[in-house]
Amino acid sequence: TQFSDATVTRGPGGETHQVSEGGVPVLTTAQGIPVYDDQNSLKVGPRGPVLLEDFALREKLFHFDHERIPERVVHARGFGAHGFFEITDPALAKLSTADVFQRVGEQTPAFVRFSTVAGNKGSADVARDVRGFAVKLYTQQGNWDIVGNNIPVFFIQDAIKFPDLIHAAKQEPDRGFPQAQTAHDNFWDFLSLSPEAMHMAMWIMSDRTLPRSFRFMEGFGVHTFRLIDVAGKSTFVKFHWKPKLGLQSVVWNEAVKLNGADPDFHRRDMWDAITGGDFPEWEFGVQIFDEAFVESFDFDVLDATKLIPEELVPVKIVGRLVLNRVVDNFFAETEQVAFSTGNVPPGIGFTNDPLLQGRNFSYLDTQLKRLGSTNFTHLPINAPKCPFHTLQQDGHMAMINPRGRANYEPNSWGPEKGGPRESPTIGYKPAAEQISGDKLQARGDLFADHYSQARQFYVSQTAVEQLHIKDAFVFELSKVETPAIRARMVSHLLNIDKGLAKTVADGLGLLEMPKPAIPARKVIETLPP
Ligand code: HEM
Repeated sequence: TQFSDATVTRGPGGETHQVSEGGVPVLTTAQGIPVYDDQNSLKVGPRGPVLLEDFALREKLFHFDHERIPERVVHARGFGAHGFFEITDPALAKLSTADVFQRVGEQTPAFVRFSTVAGNKGSADVARDVRGFAVKLYTQQGNWDIVGNNIPVFFIQDAIKFPDLIHAAKQEPDRGFPQAQTAHDNFWDFLSLSPEAMHMAMWIMSDRTLPRSFRFMEGFGVHTFRLIDVAGKSTFVKFHWKPKLGLQSVVWNEAVKLNGADPDFHRRDMWDAITGGDFPEWEFGVQIFDEAFVESFDFDVLDATKLIPEELVPVKIVGRLVLNRVVDNFFAETEQVAFSTGNVPPGIGFTNDPLLQGRNFSYLDTQLKRLGSTNFTHLPINAPKCPFHTLQQDGHMAMINPRGRANYEPNSWGPEKGGPRESPTIGYKPAAEQISGDKLQARGDLFADHYSQARQFYVSQTAVEQLHIKDAFVFELSKVETPAIRARMVSHLLNIDKGLAKTVADGLGLLEMPKPAIPARKVIETLPP
């Protein structure tokens, strides 16, 4: 319904006054004081000066002045929606004690935020970029976040390189641009000096980074995680989301036009689909493997620049995710949601992937800065939906403090006053693992082959898809002004596919073909049978 124009009055200056009548709530200050006039500040005479006494004006400006919070340091531009997750196959129940896997058909509330990585909050949706695919499952034993991307591998192997990668990918520090493009010297400079990024470079030059919409994207947990069973034994697992609609992308010249005509193309698509009752759905799949597979695999399962080919370990579909509700408020939910790879419930465990371990630190750390208080878990979007009882107290904006006398334990107080206690039966226990070694800064030997999977990805593409990859390399590298960086990229491509390298070199007009980059480790020509 619309506000009736009949109730509108004009003030002496011609300004519009809409007055509260017929049950319409009265506008108040944040202190609940009813507002008399929201069009004119308090002045001495109609032509001012304005009086400092006007507390409604001061409060209104004060609050507005502080509306902005820092945008995410990466994945700043995102779009979230609510839905549910359910298990459709009981296979995981015996491999993991995670409560969320135990009952087929039971719905677990979910919140998903899709995002671009490099662009700032106001950048365009259809930029060539990786897409974030972050899922929060509000399980009955706490929140489980699968903070993934739409590409199954990552640029780097060790978290110590993440700030460098992101500095190089985002706008250059002197000029402040480009805001959301892969095409610039710093980005390709860093990549060309980081052979570990070559597999990911192939994926980002493919159609995967130009999704038709969020609804046509796969999602990947990327790292190897663990499922932990009742005996404490663990099995390795990779998590997958497969869109029911299948995969679709746009081509580059469509992307360029879309970004100009409608920078909100992806978020509008998601909003329209959900509000129109066309609920997007993903299958939840797992690749499960054990130590014997780890030993037989040519790559290290702790290396996030490698995937486990689905031919070797098929993806088993065990659940589904449906998004069926848009947010009530973008800021409260999509902006304030805080995901972390470190949020895992009992039955899910980490591996020693050095990228994952850095992430487990970084998310909590950044969220204190971004959301401004250790109490960001008190915000409804971040709070668990199961009973929870901590002994944490106070801090900025504390809304949930321990009740009663006990804010420490052990204590002498009985069940009514003594507060929560630890649980050896259901409490979180990591998988047992024997670790020993020298303290050193190094990487595992199997981390060193940077080209084999890049090649496998390229040859797995259809002719049209390969053409798109070639065109993308030529276009992106043609924006690079420094000849040495272009040549260095071609020297890597020579180790991936000679035809690709030649097309790119010709497209860039290189006068001389560079020598192939020297691989750190022999490139594996074929997959193991
Ligand atoms: C967001 C750090 C690698 C997926 C973020 C944020 C940080 C961060 C600080 C902002 C979080 C916030 O403000 O709430 C890192 C570090 C990484 C890393 C240090 C490597 C060492 C990755 C990888 C993936 C990924 C490998 C995908 C598998 C995401 C997603 C978001 C995000 C999806 C957005 C979450 C949201 O929608 O709120 N990351 N990241 N990140 N990261 Fe990472």
